[in-house]
Amino acid sequence: MAKKSVRDVEVKGKRILVRVDFNVPLERGEVKDDTRIRAALPTIRYLLERGARIILISHLGRPKGEVKADLRLDPVGRRLAALLNQPVKKLDQAVGDTVTSAVAALKEGEIILLENIRFEKGEEKNDPALSQQLARLADLYVNDAFGTAHRAHASTAGVAAHIPAVAGLLMIKEIETLSRCIDNPGRPLVVILGGAKVSDKINVIRRFLQLADRLLIGGGMANTFLAARGCSMGDSLVETERIAEARQLMEESKLNRCEIMLPEDLVVTREIKEESPFNIVSGGAVEEGWKAVDLGPETASRYSRAVAEAKMVVWNGPLGVCEVPPFDRGTEIVARAVAQSEAFSVVGGGDIVAALESLGLTDKINFISTGGGATLEFWEGKELPGIAVLQDK
Ligand code: 3PG
Repeated sequence: MAKKSVRDVEVKGKRILVRVDFNVPLERGEVKDDTRIRAALPTIRYLLERGARIILISHLGRPKGEVKADLRLDPVGRRLAALLNQPVKKLDQAVGDTVTSAVAALKEGEIILLENIRFEKGEEKNDPALSQQLARLADLYVNDAFGTAHRAHASTAGVAAHIPAVAGLLMIKEIETLSRCIDNPGRPLVVILGGAKVSDKINVIRRFLQLADRLLIGGGMANTFLAARGCSMGDSLVETERIAEARQLMEESKLNRCEIMLPEDLVVTREIKEESPFNIVSGGAVEEGWKAVDLGPETASRYSRAVAEAKMVVWNGPLGVCEVPPFDRGTEIVARAVAQSEAFSVVGGGDIVAALESLGLTDKINFISTGGGATLEFWEGKELPGIAVLQDK
């Protein structure tokens, strides 16, 4: 699936529509975390240095075809201008006459940022009329929005039917690194999967069962696996309708020679709130009135030892109720083991990335994907529409 990138085409003087994923958290009208903006800088700088005329397009939040004042891209434009140390002309529309005239006046090495494309009703419907309007603005389309590549929308997929379409540098890096995890992993490959529900990750679990040497399970989803083993889970979050499937996955793991590791001890509490009193119990003995909220210390050490033996670590999802201390401890212990290990480490998905950031460990991870849902679907083996439409190399 090698795709053409900006490096494979002439960009000088061209008007280039670059789809980026600037869907970033805002706080009091300013960008709270600019990771995704910084991730797009290599492509933007590459194009600027070669005299392209850049038209950036992104979504922010889920305004569902309505104009929402708090989801305008002005704060994003300001942050981008600061990072690039050059003006970014933010427009108040994504299409229309004002946009057409601003694009016509755009000079080489200049940047326009269009308004939130999800203010347009046609975006999520992948309306061909909107795709055509967008395509008319440019000579070339570049998709650098890996985080949105699983959406078949007008600005992520439809537009590519009308003008030549290639990948940005972030998109290429994401494709190459995430592919390496499944096509050519270091061995032993240790995959850590957490998060609340088995149902959100069933396909990715199944995929990694076929590929990994060890699958370390934590977070709420571990409860459903423990219940499938016959453990009593008290008042813990358990997806009863998924217990049979969890049992089947454990059977499949034996055929695939992938060792599934589950918590042997758990932190349990009566109430999920900060500094709530807790106990540590064996995995099979959560009493009524108590909920499992984190890995116990034995499990955290056992998982850390597995990480220390790995050549590659792939991680998605927190291993406890990370946002409610002290139930972030298990995630922290395993995160420190990943940071210290010599394995090539790849982390994907928003919650665990936020946890690594608050621990100050992101620079110890080899690759942090900018995708959430997109990363999971990529690892599941699904074709992502925003990648499929790009020209092959
Ligand atoms: C994300 O944050 O995962 C992407 O920007 C996609 O956003 P969406 O889930 O609203 O399509």
